[in-house]
Amino acid sequence: MNNKNLTGEVYYPSEEVINKSHIKDWDELNNRAKKDYQSFWAERADELHWFKKWDKVIDDSNKPFYKWYTGGKTNIVYNCLDIHVKTFRRNKLALIWEGENGDTKTFSYYALHRETCKFANVLKSMGVQKGDRVTIYMGRTPEIVIAMLACARIGAIHSVVYGGFSVESLSERIEDSNSKVLIVADGAYQRGKIVPLKQIADEALQRCGTVEHVLVVKRTGQEINMEFGRDMWYHELINLPIATQHCALEIMDAEDPLFILYTSGTTGKPKAILHTHGGYMVGVHSSLKYVFDIHEEDRYWCAADPGWITGHSYIVYGPLLNGTTSFMYEGAPNFPYPNRWWQMIEKYGINILYTAPTAIRGLMRFGESWVNRHDLSSLRLLGSVGEPINPEAWKWYYRVVGKEKCPIMDTWWQTETGMFMITPMPSVPLKPGSGTRPFPGIEMDVVDENGNSVKPNEEGFLIIKTPWPSMIRTVYKDPERLVQQYWSKYPGVYLTGDSARKDEDGYFWIIGRVDDVIKVSGYRLGTAEIESALVSHNTVAEAAAIGLPHEVKGNAIYAYVILRAGIEKTPTLIEELRQHVSHEVGPIAKPENIEFVDTLPKTRSGKIMRRVLKARALGQDPGNISTLEE
Ligand code: PRX
Repeated sequence: MNNKNLTGEVYYPSEEVINKSHIKDWDELNNRAKKDYQSFWAERADELHWFKKWDKVIDDSNKPFYKWYTGGKTNIVYNCLDIHVKTFRRNKLALIWEGENGDTKTFSYYALHRETCKFANVLKSMGVQKGDRVTIYMGRTPEIVIAMLACARIGAIHSVVYGGFSVESLSERIEDSNSKVLIVADGAYQRGKIVPLKQIADEALQRCGTVEHVLVVKRTGQEINMEFGRDMWYHELINLPIATQHCALEIMDAEDPLFILYTSGTTGKPKAILHTHGGYMVGVHSSLKYVFDIHEEDRYWCAADPGWITGHSYIVYGPLLNGTTSFMYEGAPNFPYPNRWWQMIEKYGINILYTAPTAIRGLMRFGESWVNRHDLSSLRLLGSVGEPINPEAWKWYYRVVGKEKCPIMDTWWQTETGMFMITPMPSVPLKPGSGTRPFPGIEMDVVDENGNSVKPNEEGFLIIKTPWPSMIRTVYKDPERLVQQYWSKYPGVYLTGDSARKDEDGYFWIIGRVDDVIKVSGYRLGTAEIESALVSHNTVAEAAAIGLPHEVKGNAIYAYVILRAGIEKTPTLIEELRQHVSHEVGPIAKPENIEFVDTLPKTRSGKIMRRVLKARALGQDPGNISTLEE
């Protein structure tokens, strides 16, 4: 595909980029993978260590509950830490961390292995065993990485809840996962303020009854409530004699669960997506290696949060599996000044930066001079994820940040896919706004209502036609939902929930979600979560939430509320309701605006027609409204 005959605006890779990259001929690799995807994925798995090799690459005897590398024995942590500690990488930096207040910490592979083992021993001493769920609720600090690895080392299943979520979201997730242990920080720094994580957790714990032990990491140091017999300090526990730096690793079956991660779906409450040790490990290792072209000397920065899938796959597991040096930053991109990110890229000599379009658009607003006062010549590759990147932001990122020499890897994927699915590699010609084509070994298409491929440039449903190693295994405690939500619209095909088009060169262009998921600043929220928070307020009878286009956030939340009889419609109440959503779900879910209405458009069966609300707000034609109730 390196020919010069592509349509539209195309950015071809330089000879320098191609010469450096692991995959110089994408087409050759893709053709090989297409001919025999099982051998392709077996080769990828062979790049990692297995205690016992798998018997079968894929077991599809119970579709869509696919199994990968069956019979194989491994533990992802062995490939993340133990294997490196046996080589020169024991002294290589695994993690460089900077706090928002300027604190710094670094961990060699040796140190990260030690801290993981110490904490794993603490967890064991509390009775945590293989298969137990542990909830983690923290900001972006090294301890979140250590906590995740410690769980995985002993076979416990971690359930990380993003630190930007609040009381109800946390309590719901603890309850659903039935976690007996919660690992939390006292607080997190965000734009100079403290997010009181422990206080939020205390309130959440009053609403759910499963947690027996709370381990508290001291980060912000303010006064907090420590409940006797339940709450213990992390720094005290890891200094106890039981917390030795040797902790036997649990040998896991390839298909044993590694983690669950809650995400918003088409309907109802967030659901827990389950990923496994074997297939997930292979998917994230090879996708990061080939897409971000990891080399031994690299310093890589994924600026996401570990509490989302991007952080799980490409802050924690992917970089460690590749033995690379990863950078993590605690705070906001523009605090205290809009040059904070650029300053750190210069200070640490970052080579690869992976972030979201919303961050780029947010930083773009401050102008080029903030970027240009720093030497960003260490940068070699850039990345984007979470929502479609508009060509204007792409070009700014390419020109101002990447100085027209760093290809942008626009990676399309989901919590459910675990790894990049549509993505370029550095040697692939780019078109601003397109993630190019599926990763080798993965077949995708854009289809109409009946499942037939649409013509080039026509909009349709984005689907995945082949299984892949890091695919969602099940919805925790609700396997039927896996079948219904993803595998039932078209037989044998995975439905992504996105709409897209494919151009004449086979390049994919993502349009957006076609369900009740709203992407706000790249964060995934469900209308149901926002609506249920609103109706939990004692003045609200009914509510409907929609996403409307927003210049920086991509989408912003607008809510329509029917008040209970006799309640006065005041601006103060609007503010109170916005705060209520923030308190229950999290600041990211706070509606941009709330409008009081007397009725909501509904179908005759009582379903809210959000599509009609959206069309009205945008001054557009609502389309077919034949099912609308009078
Ligand atoms: O709509 C797509 C959008 O994010 C959704 C998945 O969200 P989540 O599970 O939170 O994972 C986000 C990070 C992987 C997708 O269904 N999305 C993700 N990446 C892109 C994207 N939309 C357009 N371009 C992308 N690169």
